[in-house]
Formats: sequence, structure tokens, C-alpha cells
Amino acid sequence: MKKNKRKIYFDYAATTPVDPRVVKVMLPYFSKKFGNTMSLHSFGQEVKEILEESREKVASLIGAKPNEIIFTSSATESNNLALKGIAFANKNRGNHIIISSIEHPCVMESAKWLESQGFEITRLKVDKYGLVNPEDVKKAIKKETILVSIMHANNEIGTIEPIEEIGKIIKSEIRNQNSKIYFHTDAAQTLGKIPVDVNKLGVDLLTGSSHKIYGPKGAACLYIREGTKITPLLHGGGHEMGLRSSTVNVPAIVGFAEALEIAKKEMKKENERLSKLREKLEKGILKKIKNAHLVGHPQKRLPNIANFWFEGVEGESVVIELDLLGIAVSTGSACSSEKLEASHVLLATGLKPHQAHSSLRLSLGRWTKEKDIDYVLKVLPKVIKRLRLISPTFK
Ligand SMILES: Cc1ncc(COP(=O)(O)O)c(C=O)c1O
Repeated sequence: MKKNKRKIYFDYAATTPVDPRVVKVMLPYFSKKFGNTMSLHSFGQEVKEILEESREKVASLIGAKPNEIIFTSSATESNNLALKGIAFANKNRGNHIIISSIEHPCVMESAKWLESQGFEITRLKVDKYGLVNPEDVKKAIKKETILVSIMHANNEIGTIEPIEEIGKIIKSEIRNQNSKIYFHTDAAQTLGKIPVDVNKLGVDLLTGSSHKIYGPKGAACLYIREGTKITPLLHGGGHEMGLRSSTVNVPAIVGFAEALEIAKKEMKKENERLSKLREKLEKGILKKIKNAHLVGHPQKRLPNIANFWFEGVEGESVVIELDLLGIAVSTGSACSSEKLEASHVLLATGLKPHQAHSSLRLSLGRWTKEKDIDYVLKVLPKVIKRLRLISPTFK
């Protein structure tokens, strides 16, 4: 088959290219300003200064104080620290943790591991759009509850959870029971894409990621509200206020802070642009392809994520066919697509395994153009038609 020269990226929810403006601010911190932030000499002190400036920048962009931001290497690490760090620091008060059933695998697996260590985990059901019902959080809270962790928006279907409402419920429950229940949200898919303010959301901990917002890989943050009792996972030289020992990755952190600043500045305009493109994409797909279904909340959804399932086709086959045509998309999340199991998120929304296996996620971003949408709308219906012709299940 003739190889297609066109290369269109529709997988921005998996990762993003680094914005050239971000690369530019990072460059000096590789070879010129390369010191270790813990060194007392000038090489160390000049990078320590930029590290603290980056911390101030990230903090101010989410309504936090600088001493409430810990830089980590990834959202996976931040989520592990949030769950395990809170669990172990507070186990004298209780052993119960509440999460949703559609969390990212790094939260699901951390919770599963904590279960093996004697903690009790409640996994809240979601509705057909992937929404957690705040009342269910209220019902699940008991006197042993020490942590609630619900993601801000889901990475596969884009549904935005009612974090503010859940935060209020948790606060009122704390007053009733005179105990502390920490509230964590995984904002890896929302930070820099929709407004994120830790006080408005009412969270004690919040995970943010750099490589989802045109920053480099290798940098992320965990917001930890002042006074939170948390135990580090990495012990050593005492970096990051003793909560994350490891020589600090200054270039990546500088890039992360810059990427977040740009994303926040451009958010409103970019979201209007992306919403229009996504609407065109969704309407086009649902019009041109019969027996295609949209997954995720129709309104309460990130402006850049569209997830469909197509009767009678395997999502993986569509991904491969589209790749040959120069279009990069994913089935479910990039993190789970190497496994053959159906996505736990789609199953939680009520899809049957065969329906979940026929899903396709298209995620748009900074370099998505209208002509890219037009190209997808031209080739995807043909791909689905061809696959359905050879499908043993499609009638
Ligand atoms: C919601 C969410 N949380 C956590 C992660 C994990 O991020 P990373 O693999 O960069 O650690 C991702 C990545 O897709 C995500 O979408």
C-alpha cells in the first residue's frame, strides 16, 4: 500500500508537542545554567532562583501559595504521592478512601495497592455520561474516611466532574464529624485547559501535568494545601520541602511554568476555536456514519475530546487504518490501549465490552486546523464502511 505523506495528530489528550515558545525558555537550563538547586555556589543558586520563580508562577496560576506546590516528574507520581502519602500519614485516624470508578490507571492501581496494605476503597459508580453524583460521595463518607480522590475531567471521554459541589459536601461532612477528610483531584487533563482554582474547587490536593499542555515531559506538580498531613514516597536529600527528594529537573519545570502561563493566557480564545472544530467533527461523524454513538457528557465536557463507538468495528482496526492514512487517534486512553481489556471508563458508563472495544477517541489541540477535521470527515466514513463489510458482527 502507498504510504500516506500526510500526518495529522488527533491524540493531544495522550501528549502534546512542546510549544516552540516553551522550548526557547528552557534552552539555557540545559548547558549554561545547569547547576544543582541544592548547591550553595552561584551555579546552584541561579537555578534555585528560577525554580522558586517557576513555583510562584504555577502557584499564582491556580490560586495557591508557592509553598503549596511540589514539583514531581509526572502526573502518575503526583497521584501516587497524593493517595499513598495521605493514606500512610493519616492511617491512625482511619483507613477508608473514596475514588470514582473512572479514575486514571495510576489512581486505580494506587488504590488497589493500598487495599492490599489494609486500606478500604470505595469506588463510586458514574452515570452514562461518566458523571459522579455528589450525593453518592456524601453517602459513602464514614468516620474512617480520610481521603476522597475524584478526577477533574476524564482523559478518555472528557466529562468534567462536579468537583466544586463535591468539595462543598466534603467540607460539610467534616463539620458534622469533626474530622479531616482530604480531597484530591487529578487535574492532569484540565490544568491549562479550563479554569482551575484550588480554592474555588475546594480541594486540598491537586495534580497537574506539563506534557498535556505543550510543556515538556518529566515535569508535573502536586498542590498540597498548607497544613496537610502527608508522607513522602521518595526519601533522600530533602528536596521539595522534604516531600520529594531527587535532584530537581529545572529545565522541565521552567518549561512547565511557561507552558501553563501561555495556556492560561490563551485559554478562552483557544477553547472557542476548539469547541467549534469539535462540534463540526462530531456533527459530521454522526451525520455521515450510521450507528455511531458519542460517549461522554454532551455539555459538561472538555472542549478538545470527542469519543465515539461504532457498531460492528474494532477500535484498534480503525486506529491502524487511520494511521495508514496519516491520522493519529486512539482507542480509550493511550495508557490502557496496549492492554486488550476493554476500557474500565467506558464499561463504567454502561457500555458492553464489545461496544467499549469499538471506541475511538479523537483529541484536538493547538495545531488542529479545520482542514484536518475535513480530512477526517472525508476518510473515516470510508474506513468504517470497509471494516463493517468484513465484520462478522455488523448486520
Ligand atoms: C487524567 C490523567 N491522570 C494521570 C495521567 C498520567 O500522566 P503521566 O503518564 O504523564 O504520568 C494521565 C495521562 O494520560 C491522565 O490523563
